[in-house]
Amino acid sequence: MGDWEFVKDRTATQGAVWRLTDGLLYKRTGGEDLRAETAFQQLVVGLGYPVPEIVDSGSEGGSYFVVERAIGETSLHEEALADARRDGQVSYQVPSTAAAVSSKLLQAQARHPLPSTPWFEKAAFAPEVFEENPDFDIPRIHEAVKHALDRLAQLPMVHGHRDYGLPNVLRAGVIDWQHHGPVPLGYDVYPALDIVAFKGGGKGYTITREQRAAYTSALDSTTASLIGQRVSEHLGDFLLVKCFFFLALMRPTDPARHDKHIKWQYRRALFTMGLDQYESFNTIDTGAFPTLDRFAAEHR
Ligand SMILES: Nc1ncnc2c1ncn2[C@@H]1O[C@H](COP(=O)(O)OP(=O)(O)O)[C@@H](O)[C@H]1O
Ligand SMILES: [Mg+2]
Repeated sequence: MGDWEFVKDRTATQGAVWRLTDGLLYKRTGGEDLRAETAFQQLVVGLGYPVPEIVDSGSEGGSYFVVERAIGETSLHEEALADARRDGQVSYQVPSTAAAVSSKLLQAQARHPLPSTPWFEKAAFAPEVFEENPDFDIPRIHEAVKHALDRLAQLPMVHGHRDYGLPNVLRAGVIDWQHHGPVPLGYDVYPALDIVAFKGGGKGYTITREQRAAYTSALDSTTASLIGQRVSEHLGDFLLVKCFFFLALMRPTDPARHDKHIKWQYRRALFTMGLDQYESFNTIDTGAFPTLDRFAAEHR
């Protein structure tokens, strides 16, 4: 069968990812979180979601493990990075493959609507954001959130990924369901290319306005046929939630970490920019976000 080789420690949870040397299987180790993630993944495999099939799971030396089939060799994040290094820009294949996977996910999601249920607090990490940024816990911001949630209440609720983006999308599906939970239809997929801008350009590539427009319009064809609505009209509502998500857990505990302090301030600035735009135009233009380097240079 071959041996398990270490891939990486998991982000935002305990445990690690391992890959079988022949590349056909991946193994994750972890605790109770991983157990819940696995149960969820098994549920959505059964609902026809484009996710890896689980072939084994259990306990081993006091921790939990799960083994799933590989669904590709590189994520779209890695493909975008390779394109940018080679050609100086991301090829059209990245947004077009992303749109194909996103459409599959939308179809499976739309076929299995859920009863209406609270979702914002957890998806946005709102309690954490207000705890770390008490100056944002003000009526103005709660009103903007209420406005977005009222608009989003018109969409069906579905089982969601909540951390959908190029690093978790491969040609044959979507991995890494640790943040799973209910979301309005479209919340996962519509912001997927816009959220690259929250990383501040440090990831090595940018997605152009044209690429984002092509992606959005492909998704709109899917949602128009699924629910008779072009869900891109909710992109601004989704991105307001993402402004929270990307600000959560950013406040450094160690005041000596100037680099972390700047990143936190950067995400606070994006939050404020996003909010201003949302209030004025009901949408958020991530193309107007400064890079982290530019922000840092202006805030020395
Ligand atoms: N089923 C899979 N098929 C292909 N690659 C996978 C699979 N599961 C994990 N990987 C690889 O392992 C990496 C880390 O897995 P992931 O669950 O996303 O960890 P993290 O929680 O740290 O983001 C991914 O970026 C991907 O390269
Ligand atoms: Mg991941």
